[in-house]
Amino acid sequence: MSTNIATKGIRTQAIHGGEEKRKRSTSSAPDLVMSSTFHVDREVSFSANKIEDDAPYVYTRWANPTTDQLEAKLSVLEQAEASIAFASGMAATSGVLLGHLSAGDHVVMSETNYPGTAEVARHTLDRFGIAMTPVDTTDPANVQNALRAGTRIVWIETPSNPLLNIADIAAIAAIAHAHGALLVVDSTFATPVATRPLALGADLVVHSLTKYIGGHGDAMGGSVSGSKELLAPLRSEALSHFGGVISPFNAWLIMRGIATLPLRMREHAASAMAVAEFLEQHPRVETVIYPGLTSHPQHALAAQQMDNFSGMVSFRAADGKAVAKRMMAELEVIHYAVSLGHHRSLIWLLSTDDLAESSYGLEGEALARYRAIAGDGLFRFSVGLEDAADLIADLDRVL
Ligand SMILES: Cc1ncc(COP(=O)(O)O)c(C=O)c1O
Repeated sequence: MSTNIATKGIRTQAIHGGEEKRKRSTSSAPDLVMSSTFHVDREVSFSANKIEDDAPYVYTRWANPTTDQLEAKLSVLEQAEASIAFASGMAATSGVLLGHLSAGDHVVMSETNYPGTAEVARHTLDRFGIAMTPVDTTDPANVQNALRAGTRIVWIETPSNPLLNIADIAAIAAIAHAHGALLVVDSTFATPVATRPLALGADLVVHSLTKYIGGHGDAMGGSVSGSKELLAPLRSEALSHFGGVISPFNAWLIMRGIATLPLRMREHAASAMAVAEFLEQHPRVETVIYPGLTSHPQHALAAQQMDNFSGMVSFRAADGKAVAKRMMAELEVIHYAVSLGHHRSLIWLLSTDDLAESSYGLEGEALARYRAIAGDGLFRFSVGLEDAADLIADLDRVL
């Protein structure tokens, strides 16, 4: 097949990208190679520190032909020189942080983001002598003001979990680079269909593949994309030594999911808009956050930075805890469950007290800022691919 996949449309890239790398058989679909070890017919080092680009497959914790294809497909979609797949989004996140930071370094991070990321940054990094300053990354000036000697990484999540805040990737990349720091973007909510952070100046892009990219709620995975130079220490250390490798079976499932990613994202966004508009006029709903709504405070930036507003809608409802109880018992189509980005709709109430205390450590003005939007709790609704009318009827009944 054509090797000039970079010139093709995103739907063609999602289907064929990376698959030209397959050399092992004549199958049309990617081969699933579950072998943990490989016949080797030439001398190779036994150290993960010395894996060369043209090394044969030796051991699946270092490299595997199925996982290679997923990584190549992700590189096509993110317009990246290279990508590494991990066992989960958190394995990718902790791999980047522990792979690129050392004792004495400093990180600037969005003050609200995926709670697992926030907890690693606040608790784990602290144990290793790495400091983190949380800031409201909706204003790039806050990032500028938080930089200090030793700031090595600026970490943003856009749109962010669960407030759907947008961070200006290009502006923050310029600020980070002027200081000699790397910009890492967790682009899980956006997907490469909406935003290509590397093209906007980011150095590394992180995804939870468990979400939209895999898309079907049946395989955990994570990824990091960027330059070969920045990924090299992650491949030998974070991947091979920390050991958070993806199962080739999950890589294969996620690759199959990616084939329909552009089509799925179009439908996720269309239904999310319909649901957001329904919620906005509902008398029991107090706040609706969706980047595609003109009422979103950063709608203009979202429209500029995203080609698709994705499928996440956050909202606050009167008597939220009672609504959540009704959801658990009475929803017919939507699942009351964590996670997001699947073809099935998923909803979850994120309690403000819980998040503010255990994950974000929000206090004072930062807590007031979060509470002004989220109240006592925010429903995070991952709008799936069912008929939008059925989703709206389900919500209407429990509200
Ligand atoms: C934005 C974001 N990043 C990272 C993660 C972690 O991914 P995983 O659950 O695959 O470890 C999540 C999970 O919800 C997420 O929402």
